[in-house]
Amino acid sequence: MFPEVRMRRLRRTQNIRNMVQEVQLNMNDYIYPIFVIEGQDIKNEIPSMPGIYQFSLDHLLEEVQRAVDAGVIAIMLFGIPAKKDECGSEAYNDDGIIQQAVRLVRAHYPELVISTDVCMCEYTSHGHCGLIQGETVDNDSTLELLAKIAVSHAKAGADILAPSDMMDGRIGVIRDALDEAGYKDVIIMAHAVKYASSFYGPFRDAAESAPHFGDRKSYQMDPASGTRQALAEIALDVEEGADMVIVKPGLPYLDLVSAAYENTLVPVVAYNVSGEYAMVKAAAQNGWIDEKAIVMEMMLAFKRAGAKMVITYHAIDIGNWLKEK
Ligand code: PBG
Repeated sequence: MFPEVRMRRLRRTQNIRNMVQEVQLNMNDYIYPIFVIEGQDIKNEIPSMPGIYQFSLDHLLEEVQRAVDAGVIAIMLFGIPAKKDECGSEAYNDDGIIQQAVRLVRAHYPELVISTDVCMCEYTSHGHCGLIQGETVDNDSTLELLAKIAVSHAKAGADILAPSDMMDGRIGVIRDALDEAGYKDVIIMAHAVKYASSFYGPFRDAAESAPHFGDRKSYQMDPASGTRQALAEIALDVEEGADMVIVKPGLPYLDLVSAAYENTLVPVVAYNVSGEYAMVKAAAQNGWIDEKAIVMEMMLAFKRAGAKMVITYHAIDIGNWLKEK
């Protein structure tokens, strides 16, 4: 008890503080998302995501190089096709935009970890993450298409597939399809815990994937549902073959990052989503916060909660900031 016990002893100098640190930031832990759009000579900044662009293939490698220069070792590619249809057929076209992007990056960066978003919302005319039957997204018929998408990404050379659709049973179906096609070493990073969140707003501008009717509440999780449902989602995905699990969004859901860490043995990934990024950027642009300090502090929070990796639009900045010190 005080006055013998003084917590401030362990905070007296920088080196003492360093000794008792339990988390450190490390570039092995960041996955940088990149939006690739069909067309030529396109580099469109997303108004709600300053510093983040849609790139056509002829500009893609510039962005990849910028990431690699900052120390990024893993990227996540999102495709935006020129034409969309009811069943999102461009999503599994071997010559589709995402497949071409994976092949291009793979050809130039053999060591870079390439992950892809496995979903249909960027590819469907209605903007939903699966096939529509009546008024709703049909689970079971969507699974077949997700499996086709996954195999086409693996064939193009992706290391990690990240299904984000939230259909039931998709991890098992995708694992079987990959194994059958000979891609037994391709990793599945499941969006196991994904909420129907307003924090995805800016992403839907970037990926041109907002639903044209209704919302995603019948397949993505209810933010008012608790830890038990999240743990059930994680248990099912791991049982079906997920190698890693994502919790998304990130910062407002750190309780679930922590629950995931405590209740599973696979690596936990937090998705620091577009709305979280937009809020930081907007405040920084107004001079209301110190962007670097805020971002680094947020990244420490992810680590403390138990995230091994973070998917973040800040990844390049983080790499450059870590080099400064
Ligand atoms: C696609 C998908 C979404 C995000 C990643 N993959 C949007 C959604 O479900 O509507 C959001 C990522 C972000 O906001 O940064 N299904």
